[in-house]
Amino acid sequence: MNRPPIRAFGPRPCSLVVCRGCCCGDARKNPGTDHAGQLARLRAAAAASGGRLVVRTSDCLGPCAQANIVVVQPSTEGRRRGGRAAWIGFTVDDDALDDILAWTAAGGPGIAAPPATLELQMVDPPKN
Ligand code: FES
Repeated sequence: MNRPPIRAFGPRPCSLVVCRGCCCGDARKNPGTDHAGQLARLRAAAAASGGRLVVRTSDCLGPCAQANIVVVQPSTEGRRRGGRAAWIGFTVDDDALDDILAWTAAGGPGIAAPPATLELQMVDPPKN
């Protein structure tokens, strides 16, 4: 039987954590946004990335007032180069998704600079 080896600590790709809690993804909070369509678009981009991007959802991440929140996490290589997670707020239109996907396609945090327009949407993570 030919099975690929299991690696517990292999390099991880850039990843997106898409908040889908009480406010993010809720039409009552942000009417006029195709929340399901946004998530489908991000998942399709991950599926087409050849393993360079993964997408997962999360329950409420904290900064509901800045919904929709998407956290861009660096790849293993990006983290090694000093990249840190970037919290993107107000992700309610296609332009924001364009910027997020362009950044991750270029390598994401630690590898490539974010689009300037995306920098304007960066928010602070909640304090613990
Ligand atoms: S539901 Fe997304 S930050 Fe609370």
